[in-house]
Amino acid sequence: MKHTNKNDQNNSQTSSNKLSLDSSTEHLISVSQSEQRLTTGIHLPVLVTEVLSYLNPQKGESYLDLTAGYGGHATKILERTLQPQEAVLVDRDHNAIDALKQRFAGDRVELIHDDFASAAGRLLNQGRQFDIILADLGVSSPHLDSASRGFSVRLDGPLDMRMDQTQSLTAADIVNTYSAGELADLIRRFGEEPRANRIARLIEAHRPITTTAQLAHIVAKAWPGHSKQHPAVRTFQALRIAVNDELGILSRALPLWIRLLAPGGRLAVISFHSLEDRLVKQALQAEAGDRYDAQLQLLTKQPVMAGDIELVSNPRARSAKLRAAVKIKKKGE
Ligand SMILES: C[S@@+](CC[C@H](N)C(=O)[O-])C[C@H]1O[C@@H](n2cnc3c(N)ncnc32)[C@H](O)[C@@H]1O
Repeated sequence: MKHTNKNDQNNSQTSSNKLSLDSSTEHLISVSQSEQRLTTGIHLPVLVTEVLSYLNPQKGESYLDLTAGYGGHATKILERTLQPQEAVLVDRDHNAIDALKQRFAGDRVELIHDDFASAAGRLLNQGRQFDIILADLGVSSPHLDSASRGFSVRLDGPLDMRMDQTQSLTAADIVNTYSAGELADLIRRFGEEPRANRIARLIEAHRPITTTAQLAHIVAKAWPGHSKQHPAVRTFQALRIAVNDELGILSRALPLWIRLLAPGGRLAVISFHSLEDRLVKQALQAEAGDRYDAQLQLLTKQPVMAGDIELVSNPRARSAKLRAAVKIKKKGE
């Protein structure tokens, strides 16, 4: 199958190396309570044109979506492969799986409710391979727009933040049981928060903390004065990453995804903050390069970002970074 390297072709922006916070969290700042009710249940997929361009789906190809969410990308890809029975859609969130069941009812797609590292391990054990693999990391708009899921800095709800509702660890467990030192470490590492020590001491002094509004208010005390974004955004990002072990699962999963690619198969990964993007970049680069045993050819030297037109209609795309690679066909494959 023909696949061209599009490094020089794309007209999207490329990223700088500066810290990028997950704009899906910042986006909440502009979502009012009434807008929130209207948008709940809607997730606009990001970088759709770019994803289709790099994954280049062809009729009859097999497809693995590791973060199928509400099926926006999957619908576009399946419109091209026309092969739903060769598609596996994974998500660790029950609501997403229920929505996918409805969206693809009668299409015979395979749905897996699991995290994408465990799902990939299972598929490898079954000897499966895929022509197209997509991972669109992070949370979906319904996560952020629903107060009861506890992800939002702006909407008051329980301190939950679990993507998988069957998991036992919640953000409340971390906030109320970790030592100030452990909290500071987590907030610094996963939130890249310069005032992590002060925030951790404030949290410790105000426990028990049970709601997102309480936590947001307490963290804001560490940042008096005016700021463009809510001062608790970085702390919320850190807690979300910790609750869902986002970086641990991603580092375990990336090598498995590369193994699941069929010769000539394409992998695209969209990340939303710099910690994730670094892991994706390292994993792809580790298997690429000008050497005899390279497994991948990179299709994006720099991450591809959304253009201005998409940003107007979908602010969540602001921090999205897409990296893609193709599995090299070896002689005889
Ligand atoms: C950005 S949304 C994906 C949206 C999807 N591409 C669409 O078009 O609707 C990310 C999804 O990935 C899921 N997710 C995040 N981390 C995951 C993991 N480690 N394993 C499985 N699913 C995960 C979330 O539950 C969420 O539904």
